Amino acid sequence: MSAPQADPDATPATIHRQDYRPPAYWVHSVDLHFALHPTETVVRARLGLRRNGGPAPLELDGEALTLLDASIDGVAVEPARLQHLPGGGLRIDDLPAECVLETRVRISPEANTELSGLYLSGGNYFTQCEAEGFRRITYFPDRPDVMSRYTVTIEADRASCPVLLSNGNPAGHGELPGGRHWAKWEDPHPKPSYLFALVAGDLVAVRDRFTTQSGREVALAIYVRDGDQDACGHAMDSLKASMRWDEEEYGLEYDLDVFNIAAVSDFNMGAMENKGLNVFNTKYILARPETATDGDYEGIETVVAHEYFHNWTGNRVTCRDWFQLSLKEGLTVFRDQHFSEAMGSAAVKRLANVRRLRAAQFPEDAGPMAHPVRPDSYVEINNFYTATVYQKGSEVVRMMRALIGPEAFRRGMDLYIQRHDNQAVTIEDFVAAMQDASGTDLSRFARWYAQAGTPELHVTEDFDAASGRYTLSLAQRTPPTPGQPHKQPVPIPVAMGLLGAGGGALPLRLRGENAADAPAERVLLLEEARQDFVFEGLPERPTPSLLRGFSAPVKLSGLGQDSLGLLAAHDSDPFVAWESGQQYATAAMLRMVAQGGEPVLGEGLAAIAAAALDRADSDPAFAAEAFALPSESFVADQMPVADPEAIHAVRQSLRRQLGIRFAPRLAELHDRLADPGPYRIDGPSIGRRALRNAALSVLSMAPGGDGLRRARAQYAAGGNMTDVLAALRVLVDSDDPARLDALADFHARWRHDPLVLDKWFTLQATSSRPDTLATVQVLALHPDFDIRNPNRVRALVGAFAAGNPAQFHAASGEGYRFLAEMVIALDPVNAQVAARVVSPLTDWKRQAEPRAAIMRAELERILARPGLSKGTFEKVSKGLA
Ligand code: ARG
Ligand code: ZN
Repeated sequence: MSAPQADPDATPATIHRQDYRPPAYWVHSVDLHFALHPTETVVRARLGLRRNGGPAPLELDGEALTLLDASIDGVAVEPARLQHLPGGGLRIDDLPAECVLETRVRISPEANTELSGLYLSGGNYFTQCEAEGFRRITYFPDRPDVMSRYTVTIEADRASCPVLLSNGNPAGHGELPGGRHWAKWEDPHPKPSYLFALVAGDLVAVRDRFTTQSGREVALAIYVRDGDQDACGHAMDSLKASMRWDEEEYGLEYDLDVFNIAAVSDFNMGAMENKGLNVFNTKYILARPETATDGDYEGIETVVAHEYFHNWTGNRVTCRDWFQLSLKEGLTVFRDQHFSEAMGSAAVKRLANVRRLRAAQFPEDAGPMAHPVRPDSYVEINNFYTATVYQKGSEVVRMMRALIGPEAFRRGMDLYIQRHDNQAVTIEDFVAAMQDASGTDLSRFARWYAQAGTPELHVTEDFDAASGRYTLSLAQRTPPTPGQPHKQPVPIPVAMGLLGAGGGALPLRLRGENAADAPAERVLLLEEARQDFVFEGLPERPTPSLLRGFSAPVKLSGLGQDSLGLLAAHDSDPFVAWESGQQYATAAMLRMVAQGGEPVLGEGLAAIAAAALDRADSDPAFAAEAFALPSESFVADQMPVADPEAIHAVRQSLRRQLGIRFAPRLAELHDRLADPGPYRIDGPSIGRRALRNAALSVLSMAPGGDGLRRARAQYAAGGNMTDVLAALRVLVDSDDPARLDALADFHARWRHDPLVLDKWFTLQATSSRPDTLATVQVLALHPDFDIRNPNRVRALVGAFAAGNPAQFHAASGEGYRFLAEMVIALDPVNAQVAARVVSPLTDWKRQAEPRAAIMRAELERILARPGLSKGTFEKVSKGLA
C-alpha cells in the first residue's frame, strides 16, 4: 500500500469548468458510524455504489485520513488493490456495477486547525464540509453532483457529549457500556456530501415550534453553550419569520420534523446550511442589547434567513459543480435581501446593501482576482466564495426579476423547483426556467453570468428648448479583466425619471408615444454599446434621475455637480437621492485630493449635509446615511492611483468642518434622539440611534466643542452596545486622555465574552489615530489574540488591513510587512482564513511607488514560503501577475 507523495511545492493545478465530467459512480446510500474521540475518532462508512455508464475505476477523495481497513460486499480488500492518489485520495479498479464499499478511517478532530471537516471547538465537535471538507472525514466522491441518502450513528462519551446531532430526523438513541451512548439520524432527502453535518458535545437547546402552512409541526432548536440561552431570541424570531416568508412569497414549506441550529465560536465563515442542522458562527446567533449592536441584530436576521432559504435554493436543488456556486448563493442572497427589505425600511436596507456591494465587489471586479459570477476556472474553490459570486450574483437575479416582472419571476421559481427538485443543476437551468416561465429571451442577459468586470455607464444629454425634445444618450463599456480582454455589451435596465428645475417629476414620453399615458418613472433597457432615448414634450431642460433603486450593478458617470445637487435635494427615489449626494461629495473630495492645500467645505456639500439633517424626523435612518461622507476606500476606488493619506486628511478635515458648522444642530440631535425607553430593535429605533451616533461622531471632531464630553458620558452611561460602542469609537479616535481608561474598562468588563472582545480589537485596529499600526502590532501579541480563532483574526488583522486604508498603506510599508507576517504565520494553521485576509496586499497596482514595490516584495516573500497552501498560492500568485 505505497502512497505516492504529492510534491508539496509543485504548482497547484487549475480546475476548468469546461472539463466537467459526470461521476463514474453514484453513491445512492451512505451509512456512517462515528466513534467520537478528540484525537482518535473512528469513522466507518458504508457506501452503496452504482456505476454511471461503462466500466471505469472508482475514485474517492480523501485528505488527512488514516485508512484502517476496507471491504467490498463484506469481503476484505487486499491493501494492494487500493491505490493511494497524490493528495490523499483512493482509487479502486474493477469494481462490480453495483456494490457496497465499506471503509474505516481514523481522524484527529483536535489536530484540525483548518476548521474544515470534523474539528473541536471548546471541547465540542463540529463539522464544516462545504466546499471540500467531507473528504477530511471519510473517503468519498466529494463533489456536489453525487447525491445520497444518509443514515448517521454517533457514539460518544455521555458525560462530555450529552448532545449528538446530525442531519435529518432523529431515529433512535441508547446507552452503551463504559459511560458511552449513541444516537441515530436519518435524512430522507438525498444530498451532496457538502451538506453533511455532525455536532456533538455539551450544548443546551433553546426550543420553539413552527406549524407549516399545510399543518406540519416542526420542532425548532438552537444549540448553544450553557449561559448563552438568553441570547438566542432574535435568531429564533428571525428563523420563524423566514419560514413564514418562504411560504408566503414562494409557497415553499419546510420538509423535516426538526430544524436544528448549532452555534460555534470557531468558524471560517458566517454560517452553513447543512440539511436540517445549520451550523452558525456565534456572531450570527447570539445577541443581547448590552452585547450586540444594531448592525449585529440586522446581521443575524439576514444570515438566519439566508441559511434557512438555502433549504430550497441550495439543498433541495443543488449545484452540479462548484462553478455553479452562484446558482445557490446569488439566488439565496437575493432572497435574504428581499426578505430583510420586507422586514424593515426597504429603501435604507437597499442602499446599505449597495454600499456593501461597492465596498467589496466593485474593487474585486477591478482587481487581480476579478472573475465572472460563474467562474471559468479556479485553483482553490474556497477563494471563490466572493462578493462577486454572492452579491453581484444577487444583483443579477434582481435584474432578471425586474426585467420579467415579479409574477413571471415567481412562475420561474416554481418551474425551476418543479423541474429540478433533488437534482444538481447549472446556472443555465435556472435561466432556462426563468425564460420558459416568462417567454422572454434571456440569452443576452446571461452574459451577466459569464463576463467579469463592472460595466461603466456614461450619460450625455442634449436638450432642444424650441421643440421640447430631450435626448438621453447612454453608453456602456466594461473594462478588460484578467483572461477577458474584450467585452460585449450587457443588457442594463435603467430605472429612471426626469426632474424639473424645481425638483418635480416631468412626464416621460418617448418619441412616438401618446402624450396621455406618459408615466413619471420607467425602465430603459440599454442593450447595445450605445443607445439614444429621445423624450418629447418637455417644458424645460430636465435633470435625469438614473438607476433608481440601483437597477443595475454599474458605475454611472456623466452628471455634473449641479444635476447631482438637485437630485440629492429632490429626487423621489431614496436611492438616487442618497447616491447623488455621495457622488457629489466624492467628486468634491477627489478635487481636493488633486489640488492639495487646505480642504474647504463648500456650500454645495454643506447644503447636502443640511438637507440630510432636515430628514432627521421623517426618516432618521436615511438621514444618517445621507449625512455620512463617502468612505475613504470608496473615494480611493475612483482614482487610477490612490493616495490613501491625502484622502484620509481630506475626509477628516471635512468632518471637522461639518462638526464646526453644524455643532448646535448636531448637539440638539444628540440630546433629542436618545432612546425614549428600553432598547428596541425596530427600524425607527435603529434609525434614531444611527443618526444620533453619526451626530456625535461628527460633533466630536469640532475643536473646543463638547463632543468628547458627550462621548465620555455616553460611554459611562452604559446601556446598549450600539451606543456604548459608538461612544468608545469616538474616544478611541481621539486624543482624549479618557480613551485609555475606557478601553481598559471595556476589556475588563467583557474579557469573557469573545464576540464583544472582538469589537475591542476591531475598534483599535480601525482607529484613525496615527499610532494605530504600533497599537495593532502590540495587540497581535496580546494574550487574548488567538491566531486559531477566525473571528479574532478577522477582528484584528482583517479589520486593520481592509478597514483602515490610511494606516495600512502607511508610507513606511510597515502595514504591509505586518500583514505578510500574519499571513505567513496563519497559512499553516488555517489556510482558508490566510487566503482571505491577504487580499488587501494584492491591490498594489493602484498604489504609487514606493508603496507598490514594497507590496510586491511582501507578496514575493509569502510566495517563497515552502509548503504554502494552494489557496494562498492562488491569491498571491494572481495578485502578483
Ligand atoms: N454556504 C455557506 C453560505 O453562504 C458558506 C459556506 C462556505 N464555506 C467555505 N468554507 N467556503 O451560507
Ligand atoms: Zn449561502
